Amino acid sequence: MLLTKDEGKILDGELGEGKQKAMQILKTIGEIYDADRLIPVTSAQVAGVSYKTIGDAGLEFLEDFAAKGARASIPAFLNPAGMDLKNWEEMGIPRKFAEMQLKVMKAYASMGISATCTCTPYLIGIRPKRGEHIAWSESSAISFANSMLGARTNRESAVTALASAVIGKTPNFGLHLNNNRVASVVFEIKAGMSKLTDFGALGIFAGRLAKERIPAFEGMNRSFANEDRMKSLGAAMAASGSVALYYAKGITPEWVVPAGIERVPIEQKQLDEMKAKMQSADSVDLVTIGCPHCSLQEIKEIAWRLKGKKLKMKLWVCTSGKVKEQADKEGYSAAIREAGGLVVADTCMVVAPIEQMGFKSTGANSGKAAIYLQSLCRQKVSFKDVEELL
Ligand code: F3S
Repeated sequence: MLLTKDEGKILDGELGEGKQKAMQILKTIGEIYDADRLIPVTSAQVAGVSYKTIGDAGLEFLEDFAAKGARASIPAFLNPAGMDLKNWEEMGIPRKFAEMQLKVMKAYASMGISATCTCTPYLIGIRPKRGEHIAWSESSAISFANSMLGARTNRESAVTALASAVIGKTPNFGLHLNNNRVASVVFEIKAGMSKLTDFGALGIFAGRLAKERIPAFEGMNRSFANEDRMKSLGAAMAASGSVALYYAKGITPEWVVPAGIERVPIEQKQLDEMKAKMQSADSVDLVTIGCPHCSLQEIKEIAWRLKGKKLKMKLWVCTSGKVKEQADKEGYSAAIREAGGLVVADTCMVVAPIEQMGFKSTGANSGKAAIYLQSLCRQKVSFKDVEELL
């Protein structure tokens, strides 16, 4: 990978150790993937925030990187942390965990990365335009940005996104190049797909089959395929496979689907079978909505459904701090609290330490959460739509 004169100076350490380290990371990745050069990116979304997922080694790396003078040079923002940064006590987060999480936040703050703590930055006004190059690292956000917005990002790791935040560039390979943005399998949708869990179940099915390929969907009913459902579809595909980009005819801004590629019909029966397969709990001790993080509309619907009712189980409605502020203003958070639930900001059911908190079976309406709650959080799962869960 060729570096410009200025990039070479950074690599030689002339602009400090922090930048040098970031450049070393990008150069190594660029060479592994045969990139020709670095290209500018307009934003970086940095995962690796929850203390649960990064642990002491991750915290040490961040503190060291910050001490070396690494600072963001472009708009850079964080993925969910392991707790609600303001109301962690109310969530029941153990104090020791909270102390370590706050150290992680301090390290990121000193590097100038903004504590948005969400996997849905596109719901709080961060919506890169079609063709815009970015470096994002949360798999569902990557999928949404590439597919629904037509922006361009690879599946960055926490470390490479952080390095891009510092340098403002990324190696030019993979999904930054037109040739690599071509679908190789079409799913012909013959199912009704009227429920959110249909999109999650389709995502699990399609992701397993597509793996790291680019799938395309034909025949999706546009009136059901709103942004909330498409974020759920993309999240599930990114979790069951490594799908970073998909096309949906008439829905996504791009459609690069050559003739003669593999075609797979999808009937409602297959989706119902997938939902049944994901069901491992008969009852739950925690219900979680908001994977990916809830939109204001989703929170409004929950508040409306809970009006005048009392919950017997714990309920977390996960969202970003910014959307929670709006939900507070509209009175939705108060309505949910009245029923016994919580609107939880900055975190989610997967990256919060729920197993350490004693939860054993969790309800979720998200295909991605249904996968990770079982594999990463040792939970039995009830995968159902929001009305059934409530
Ligand atoms: Fe977001 Fe957590 Fe799901 S980071 S996509 S809510 S697993």
